[in-house]
Amino acid sequence: VIMKPINIASIPADGIGPEVISVGIEVVQAVCARNSDIDLNFTHFDWGSDYYKRHGEMMPADGLDTLKTFDAIYFGAVGAPDVPDHVTLWGLRLPICQGFDQYANVRPTKIIAGIDSPLRNAGPGDLDWVIVRENSEGEYSGHGGRAHRGMPEEVGTEVAIFTRVGVTRIMRYAFRLAQTRPRKFLTVVTKSNAQRHGMVMWDEIAAEVATEFPDVAWDKMLVDAMTVRMTLQPDTLDTIVATNLHADILSDLAGALAGSIGIAPTANIDPEGRFPSMFEPIHGSAFDITGKGIANPVATFWTGVQMLDHLGLTNEASRLFTAIEQVCADGILTPDVGGTKTTRQVTDAVLDAIRQLN
Ligand code: NAI
Ligand code: MG
Repeated sequence: VIMKPINIASIPADGIGPEVISVGIEVVQAVCARNSDIDLNFTHFDWGSDYYKRHGEMMPADGLDTLKTFDAIYFGAVGAPDVPDHVTLWGLRLPICQGFDQYANVRPTKIIAGIDSPLRNAGPGDLDWVIVRENSEGEYSGHGGRAHRGMPEEVGTEVAIFTRVGVTRIMRYAFRLAQTRPRKFLTVVTKSNAQRHGMVMWDEIAAEVATEFPDVAWDKMLVDAMTVRMTLQPDTLDTIVATNLHADILSDLAGALAGSIGIAPTANIDPEGRFPSMFEPIHGSAFDITGKGIANPVATFWTGVQMLDHLGLTNEASRLFTAIEQVCADGILTPDVGGTKTTRQVTDAVLDAIRQLN
């Protein structure tokens, strides 16, 4: 059977985004090449900071309507030195996440053989975690404002919004994910000692949802203590669920502990499948290395694995991950993980590995 065409919107955007997305598309296409039933098409959108400088907006007003028809979105990064970060983030990435209700942000970590962890006792296969980040509300709801601008009495509020619907659905997603993993173990992160409203509700809902998953063991951590546990007792963790802000921070830590944020991927999922989901590296536009040809493409390849999985192309997804692992194990690495290779050389090695696996 010929499968129906799969249409992916690519939004490389800013800085190293275009450098990693262009090679990401190459490896995703290559791993699908063996199966002639797969008809995978990428459509390129030049949205981002350059577009902003020309048009005064990061994407066209009807951008979400355009994206809605796609099966997935492959996203680079936003951020330019001469455009405020809140403009770039709120002009493109967050409107897509929130507009498409991609409420589950899924961030796997694992130490890939060949890549050194800064943790003395952690080696290949360790730090096998998945962080589930609430991606639609919480501290990044956008609720708040400024008053008395420029006056001595100026105020700014940034209100964290936690809804029963929002917390329950992310908790169910996290428990369900934990259930599919061998350890069946979830750690629920909060700050319910100091934040006594929304975070206490978060704890209560976790306990309620836990009763739906009697085969999943779970525990609770305060976010500050969680950074200590991730560093000193990493083997006691498996699946983790946290708020938008907390998980944002913890997942950068997880990426760094696994060697570099240049390898850490993320999937912004609409679990109900009403809208396209979006796949991206967790890193930003990294203007300090833009144009040097040394951006680590592994995060973008790994999120390509997540995208193939999401599209139901599970064989292709696991072949791509195997190819990434082989190349890293062979020591073909960019400078951020201690190597001397370029983005192009790592990509070519992954393409070779795919050809051999195909
Ligand atoms: P960043 O993630 O761009 O860079 C942090 C450090 O990690 C830099 O030293 C960079 O060179 C390095 N790095 C990042 N990705 C790498 C890769 N693939 N290979 C090798 N090294 C890599 O974060 P930073 O510097 O805080 O922010 C730069 C811009 O990116 C800002 O405008 C920020 O707002 C934006 N940003 C955008 C994100 C997104 O689009 N999802 C996420 C994080 C930041
Ligand atoms: Mg972040």
